[in-house]
Amino acid sequence: MNVAQCLTRGQVLGLPRLEAQILFLHAMGRSLHDRAWLLAHDTDEVLPAQLEAFEALAQRRLQHEPVAYIVGYKEFFGLRLTIDKRVLDPRPDTEVLVEWALACGEGLERPRYLDLGTGSGAIALALKSQLPAAEVLAVDCSADALSLAAQNAHNLALHVSFQQSHWLSQVQGKFNVLVSNPPYIEDHDPHLAELTHEPLQALASGPDGLQDIRNIVQNGPNHLEVGGWLLIEHGWNQAAAVRALLEKAGFKQVQSKFDLAGIERCSGGQK
Ligand SMILES: C[S@@+](CC[C@H](N)C(=O)[O-])C[C@H]1O[C@@H](n2cnc3c(N)ncnc32)[C@H](O)[C@@H]1O
Repeated sequence: MNVAQCLTRGQVLGLPRLEAQILFLHAMGRSLHDRAWLLAHDTDEVLPAQLEAFEALAQRRLQHEPVAYIVGYKEFFGLRLTIDKRVLDPRPDTEVLVEWALACGEGLERPRYLDLGTGSGAIALALKSQLPAAEVLAVDCSADALSLAAQNAHNLALHVSFQQSHWLSQVQGKFNVLVSNPPYIEDHDPHLAELTHEPLQALASGPDGLQDIRNIVQNGPNHLEVGGWLLIEHGWNQAAAVRALLEKAGFKQVQSKFDLAGIERCSGGQK
């Protein structure tokens, strides 16, 4: 088989074209950015062992394993993050939350940020990479997630502090911006059945998916400076509910922001 035939084979197995290309490049030991190589070499013969390796990766993906777990990393806000099954892979939509958090810190000489439920460290590390003067603390309840986040911070030479905490329970002090992409899927959402590779504590949040958001909104004000912002990512249909929680907790300027697909994806308010 040649390169083009292998890619067609991936699609016949059920992979979207882009995923077939990425997994094929990974099987060939090439950079995942090397898609131009695929075009330039589409008639090159592929060794049987390489085809076998590609088909094995394709089968993992067809069993719903995230591409980032298979290739071992994901790019987020221009940072290359090591990713494995200890954490969720960061999604491009979360970059909207980071942009908003950066805007909230504008004008402050040394803004203090707290990332709640940091997972791979994606949000905290993106903030620190953009605002080197900022103080960034990142917490998670999962020791496994924190060890991967700390590894990412080390690899990127970004100084972020990490702490194990059930949301804000172990956190001391006040911050200018609290930012969180917490679990927000309803416990009985049928989509959870497909997400068997991801850590469940990163996904599900009570019968209405809002259990963790309620906790963060209730306790957030105790850890915010006056004028500080709480920004939360949530599900596609949760914006109105999250705004209502923020208003009930006394936040001002409560508003939502749209993700890249035009969905209200994060909501926040000011103390
Ligand atoms: C949806 S993931 C987000 C990961 C990362 N911030 C991102 O945007 O890619 C939610 C994270 O919240 C963490 N988490 C879940 N329950 C928590 C709790 N009670 N206290 C602290 N972190 C929690 C999970 O371990 C997981 O890393």
